[in-house]
Amino acid sequence: MSSGQALIEELTALAGEAKNTLGQASSFEALEELRVAYLGRKGRLAQIMAKLPGLTAEEKRQAGQTANTVKEELTAHYTVRLEGLKRAQDEAMLAGFDPALPGRSHPTGGLHPLSIVSDEICRAFSGMGFEVVTGPEIETDFYNFEALNFPPEHPARDMQDTLYIGDNILLRTHTSPLQVRTLLSRKPPVAAIAPGKVYRRDSDITHSPMFHQIEGFLVDKGVTMADLRGTLTFFVHRIFGPDTLVRFRPSFFPFTEPSAEVDISCVMCEGKGHVGGQTCRVCKSTGWVEILGCGMIDPNVLKAVDIDPEVYSGFAFGMGVERVTMLKYGVGDLRLFFENDVRFLGQFA
Ligand code: DAH
Repeated sequence: MSSGQALIEELTALAGEAKNTLGQASSFEALEELRVAYLGRKGRLAQIMAKLPGLTAEEKRQAGQTANTVKEELTAHYTVRLEGLKRAQDEAMLAGFDPALPGRSHPTGGLHPLSIVSDEICRAFSGMGFEVVTGPEIETDFYNFEALNFPPEHPARDMQDTLYIGDNILLRTHTSPLQVRTLLSRKPPVAAIAPGKVYRRDSDITHSPMFHQIEGFLVDKGVTMADLRGTLTFFVHRIFGPDTLVRFRPSFFPFTEPSAEVDISCVMCEGKGHVGGQTCRVCKSTGWVEILGCGMIDPNVLKAVDIDPEVYSGFAFGMGVERVTMLKYGVGDLRLFFENDVRFLGQFA
């Protein structure tokens, strides 16, 4: 047998052997070892090819051709086995878990309940044509008290309630200064709603030194208490539902005359005073809960902002956002709003 013939037989034998061994490689490592052994730089194929230079030109041509074919076959066997091993690996992985399990959820933020309710209240009024206005939390005595007809000796001006920053400078104790600020810069008719933070020297389980109010007011010719009642009734029905009852109780505020407090039928017991035979803890069995203060703007306030009380009249109201939120969502403890526990906040997202 010529040495060319011998080389070709060697190559054919190699192809036969490699087809079996590659096809049966049981791991990526075993397959890689075989690839190096057959196709590597110093592998079996390379060793056989190294003998080519000793052949005649014709033998070289034939053996060379066979070598190329064998190389292609070996590569193809290798690739087929590699794909097979990958598929088996994927299948084993898929068998390990339940593809019907829900995916991972990504936590998202949400609005604070006080923001949700504040926005909702403002929307109810802007739907009636009220414009939303805001003002500074640091105020002067003039806007917070004097222009709102607080007599100099009024207890609300006392250091007990007000956080003073300087002689006449203080943290606003209510959003009512927005009445003064807005009416000084606009001519009636004016209808505005003013949400914001307010501050008082008061801190216990039911009082926070910072809390939120929403002020509303309307000034025009011929505004009456009936307009106030209609506006507030619409608002209550929007926020607490159309079956909620509304009642006005006479009250006193320096900046309104007459003044009233507004109660709504208890959100917990629906005005019955008891829940399942038990005294209602929300309204203390009275069937009513207070939600805001209001009244007809005092002529002295209109004078302070250069509006003639003989020509114009107006109404105003103010409410606590924490209180409305507690009633609306049945939140029993004011402190929950300020502790920022996500287990509480997450329930509103
Ligand atoms: N400013 C009052 C307070 O903080 C709330 C209030 C009552 C505002 C009556 C008003 C009003 O505009 O008419 O307690």
